[in-house]
Amino acid sequence: MSQSRHTAFITATLGLFSLFVIYICYYAANDVRLTVSPQGCRMSWMSPSYILQREFNSSWTPLAYRYSLWLYREVGWESNQVRGTPVLFIPGNAGSSHQVRSIASSAARQYFSSPSVISGDFASRGIKALDFFAVEFNEDLSAFHGPTLQSQIEYSSAAIRYILSHYPRNTRIVVMGHSMGGVVGTALLPSGDISALITMSTPHTLPPARFDAHVDELYQRNAELLANNPTPIVSICGGATDMMIPSESCILPDLGDVSLEGTVYRRTVFTSALEGAWTGVGHREMVWCHQVRWRVARAALELGGAKSNTDMAVMLDKWLNGDSHHLPPATAVDISEAATYEVLPEDMNLILKRPTGSRMYLLPIRHALDANATFVMFVSRGSIPPIAPQHSTKLQISPHFCHGLATAPDSLSCVPLEPSILKLLPSPLPGKPFPVPDEGSDESEGVVLFEATLPRIPSAEDAWIGVNVNAAGEDGWVFGGFDTTQAIQSDISAFDILIGGAKLLLQPAGRNSVRRYITLPKLLSNSLLVYKLTSRSVDSTSFCTQPLLPPLLVHKSHPAETHYYRLEHDKPIAIHTHASGPYIPLSRFSPSYGAELWIYSSGSGCQEIDELSLTIDWWATIGRTSTRYPATLVCWSVSVVAILMFYAWRESRKGQMPTVQQSLITFICYPMPKLLAASFVVALLPLSPNYYLGTRGEPFFGLLAPILLVVATGLVTVSWWFILLLMWPLRLFGRLLPVNNSLRSNRRYDDLGVSRNTIISMVFISLLVMLFVPWQVAFIGCWLIHLHTCASSAHRKPYPGSVPSLRSTPTESLPLREHSGHREEDIQNTEIKEIKPSEVPKIQDVPLDQRLAAAADALDANQAYHEKTHLLLLMFWLLPLSMPVLAVWVRTLMTAGYTTPFNGDHNVFKVAPFLVLVDCAGRSRSPLLSHRNAGSYIHWGYLIVTCVSFLLGSREAYRVFDVASLHIACALLARFSPVRFTRRIAA
Ligand SMILES: *[C@@H]1O[C@H](CO)[C@@H](O)[C@H](O)[C@H]1NC(C)=O
Repeated sequence: MSQSRHTAFITATLGLFSLFVIYICYYAANDVRLTVSPQGCRMSWMSPSYILQREFNSSWTPLAYRYSLWLYREVGWESNQVRGTPVLFIPGNAGSSHQVRSIASSAARQYFSSPSVISGDFASRGIKALDFFAVEFNEDLSAFHGPTLQSQIEYSSAAIRYILSHYPRNTRIVVMGHSMGGVVGTALLPSGDISALITMSTPHTLPPARFDAHVDELYQRNAELLANNPTPIVSICGGATDMMIPSESCILPDLGDVSLEGTVYRRTVFTSALEGAWTGVGHREMVWCHQVRWRVARAALELGGAKSNTDMAVMLDKWLNGDSHHLPPATAVDISEAATYEVLPEDMNLILKRPTGSRMYLLPIRHALDANATFVMFVSRGSIPPIAPQHSTKLQISPHFCHGLATAPDSLSCVPLEPSILKLLPSPLPGKPFPVPDEGSDESEGVVLFEATLPRIPSAEDAWIGVNVNAAGEDGWVFGGFDTTQAIQSDISAFDILIGGAKLLLQPAGRNSVRRYITLPKLLSNSLLVYKLTSRSVDSTSFCTQPLLPPLLVHKSHPAETHYYRLEHDKPIAIHTHASGPYIPLSRFSPSYGAELWIYSSGSGCQEIDELSLTIDWWATIGRTSTRYPATLVCWSVSVVAILMFYAWRESRKGQMPTVQQSLITFICYPMPKLLAASFVVALLPLSPNYYLGTRGEPFFGLLAPILLVVATGLVTVSWWFILLLMWPLRLFGRLLPVNNSLRSNRRYDDLGVSRNTIISMVFISLLVMLFVPWQVAFIGCWLIHLHTCASSAHRKPYPGSVPSLRSTPTESLPLREHSGHREEDIQNTEIKEIKPSEVPKIQDVPLDQRLAAAADALDANQAYHEKTHLLLLMFWLLPLSMPVLAVWVRTLMTAGYTTPFNGDHNVFKVAPFLVLVDCAGRSRSPLLSHRNAGSYIHWGYLIVTCVSFLLGSREAYRVFDVASLHIACALLARFSPVRFTRRIAA
């Protein structure tokens, strides 16, 4: 009695603990969006209209019945004729063609300065307007279903042929894809018709839902295209704000580095780095976030004027950029005509507020050279060509390297100074959060950053940095100086931080602090881990003027990913990255370790940052981790159920099948502690990222495996409660229908011969699956039938009809009454098991042989019931692997009409073993797959299922179903094979 209470306590605790952990994870994940990477996006406005392309009918593609093609037009701004450069927009999972409106509207309003008047810039260069087409996929759930993706690819391909038939020969189309639309777009390659591909929030390297083998095949094909196809591709990623896909999968493979000369142009841009945006962007927000859409639209417009792939690369680089720009090589300039010179004293920064006129400032570099310094310059509301925020044409700065004699200005010779970094930096508004919620940055905001290493000079000469300032108005400011501080390299690792936090002391840079550079080569850089960085300034003097550029922290962990933060005394910052992550293929440019930090400021002499401290942000780390492992959790639960069954079947060799509850307890008490240790050890093995946790044996994540295992076990417990809850009303319902019961029970218990009805129904269902119903849906049907079977055979009287039941016999004298604390079925079990012929004579009324037969039958019935419930639990955990297709199917039927041929998966063999199993289990009252009936090796099959789901499940979840189905098929074959049968007879 106390033991059963004890065990109930254990399972209940474990179950509740898992539910609690999942609850915590849910809230932590929700908070990531707000704390780690808040979003600052302006809404976009437009006046949309959509024109259905009726001529794109079934003579182009049979899918014309199912999908449609639309042309976007900005009302009042452009005519309905198509004359420009075509663009095709492909929406993603559950996306709509109407999502094209923000980008299309922005393109129209940038191209036309007022309705039907082409803006001067485009007119002079002969660039054409954009004609935005969008495919409508009825909000299909393409992420879950390969065949649906395939239909979308076919339809889009036909749509491109149709669209281009309206344009002059050799016109090429720009393809834009949002989310899974980007995957569809990539799959359209190779194609001579596509000039460039721009994807937004697209999971390129890892399918977000990994339940379908077809999706994986498609991804494998795409991986090759992404690596080799010469079509320029840009991928824009939302970062941590995007909760629908892990943003590390948005990074294009192996191409963080970009060479314009090369034939293959790839660029990944995180919106946190995208110039002018500098914010995380959510998954759906990506298509309407103003800061993103206007740059995407601009890039697409400019692509229309590009003649070659290299031209396109330059344009894409200019408009969709998050990092330093690739510039045409500098040419020598003659500046002898420059108006005036001003030579600055040594060690002075160049500070110009609202400069006017045209002038050259010379900064001596002799001293800076000795200190191995870097020249750094900021320009606000002005340009260092070609980089400038919007609407800032009045102030032009060009930095040069000059040498000669300052006393004789005519002898000076100057060449343009080659930048090592030239890009826009955000300039957070004082007193406001950064990015400003629902608003973000303005196009005209941003400070141009120019950095250059100093060239070597002959020692006899004097040399200067010559800053040529050309100001037509009185606007903006310029700040230039030398960073003479040493780069700080710190060896702190995630474990150091774990032990006690880590402090970084910055050497005092004095008044002239321009830039600090810190590298952390040993810092673990993984999407699962978030650090918290706090900055302190020790001596903050009382009087400070507002600096031109307040301290700005730049964090870079991957060539594509840069984050900007405003640094303030004692305000923690969440440092996070997508450089590497679970299940992401290894890549040259995805370092697992290392981070680079820069602190830029136009030092004002006070509030200098002296100290940085790093700790782990546990709440955010939990949030990030929990969004990456739900599929793993499901597959590991299948593993737990399979181990459970392994032990149950091994137990049943001794003649008794345990109940599910007993199996759970056995599992928790006996193999689980060992498994926890083993799971930890396996997590430390340097496996390929496709296996297990996908962390490649990183010791920091070792503990994740035991935690997941505990939660998975708890979930299995909870799922068993849930199944009991489901069976309860079914059982009541079954009792109300005695006719049904008696009909069933009058059948011979072991009537497993293949009847004509069975064959007919099997053939019928198989045909249905092959022609109409996806096999996943048939599986769900199987589970429901089996649920009903289990419910109706639970707690039934051991043997009905005229045979007297054990319960009606006086069993008090039997010695087993001591076990009365057990549940009803346990009692029956034990009673029956212990009945020996020697004890029987006490019962007078019933003949011995009949009572023995009855006892054996009762035993069988119970064994069968326990076996069925074990199988029910296994099938329950296979449901999440097939459920998504049901959703896709229902969605497709609802949106595309019931007559639409659903391009599903009709491989009847995947579900056939379950069909047979469920049918037999419904008719059999003795154990179906026990050792006695199906061979003594059957339990090893469960161990194979376990191993596959542990190791492979999280990356290729569909394999779990395949291996479970295969195992059931083998067991059934063993059960029904004639060889087995004769042996049984002989025995
Ligand atoms: C498709 O449209 C074209 C042009 O309007 C028409 O000639 C053709 O007959 C249509 N085909 C079908 C199958 O409706």
